[in-house]
Amino acid sequence: MSALTLIETAKALVADDKGLLAMDESNPTCNKRFAALGIPQTHEARRAYRELIVTTPNLGECISGLILYDETIREAKKDGTPFLKIIVDAGIIPGIKVDTGAKDMAGHPGEKITEGLDGLRERLKEYAQMGARFAKWRAVITIGPGIPSRGCIEANAQALARYAALCQEAGLVPIIEPEVLMEGEHTMARCCEVTEEVLRTVFDEIYEQRVMLEGLILKPNMVLPGLACPQQEVVDVVADATVKCLLHAVPAAVPGIAFLSGGQSGELASARLDAMNVRFRKRLPWALAFSFARGIQQPAMEIWRGQETRVHLAQEALLYRAKCNRMARRGEYPAAMKGNSTASASRCDASSNLVSTN
Ligand code: 13P
Repeated sequence: MSALTLIETAKALVADDKGLLAMDESNPTCNKRFAALGIPQTHEARRAYRELIVTTPNLGECISGLILYDETIREAKKDGTPFLKIIVDAGIIPGIKVDTGAKDMAGHPGEKITEGLDGLRERLKEYAQMGARFAKWRAVITIGPGIPSRGCIEANAQALARYAALCQEAGLVPIIEPEVLMEGEHTMARCCEVTEEVLRTVFDEIYEQRVMLEGLILKPNMVLPGLACPQQEVVDVVADATVKCLLHAVPAAVPGIAFLSGGQSGELASARLDAMNVRFRKRLPWALAFSFARGIQQPAMEIWRGQETRVHLAQEALLYRAKCNRMARRGEYPAAMKGNSTASASRCDASSNLVSTN
């Protein structure tokens, strides 16, 4: 696979002020979110919900890439049209989550290690043949008393780098997602310290594993105080801390940084991304984009609740949040979107989504 193809795909994922929509929840995570809203936890309900997403009219105007899950990439619309065809016809690049989940790490109470390297080369080959052009792997770092440990950070960073090398070998752009979780009482300063250490370690390993920086996308958390921290910070302070942290740790050759939403409400995630672009866009080496799951999907799922009659309304809510984030990439979110009546309908109930178990 030529390096040029990887570079072009990575650039395309952050081009034109678009971003990624993650719809790669594993079945247990998808079922959990359905259960919270009284939606049946069946294969058909998951298929119908994912059909709602991929058939949202004009989604390709705001979304460059869709991250799928193994069940979803093989799925089809009720009329038999494969999801992959619908996605490509909409001008959207299909991608696939390839880790097999964050598991308890032996000898490291309270910490997780992401699994999925065994057999990965073969799985990547199959996904590439099916039409996927990028992949995703999520590592999870928890902040708490005495954690994260170096052992956990290093093991996860090495797994991310080995995954990334295998992706590039298969012609897939790796989305590298080391997520420092929001859960906890820690301050924003502590989140900044941990995020910087994690990112520096990840990029050290990426260098050791000979991964091409121009052919990857970083998907980090924003730098935020823990959810239970008494001192929460205003949007501009979060924007400044996040960009400063990234400037310390992310090489300029990386084409794009696409944030995860991590349990923030859709509106806050957009406002924070917007503030970063308002304040820094012209001075940064990489594009600051989005790769949200809950931050885009949650209002749509709440409207849909498994009812076929609500599909159109849910699609409007999904497209609305996708548009908000495109505006946030331009630093035009508040002026263009605040006061729009759909905003209240698309409010994300953060309290119902605090635990990310993707
Ligand atoms: P959230 O935006 O809901 O954090 O999900 C992003 C993601 O892809 C997690 O792996």
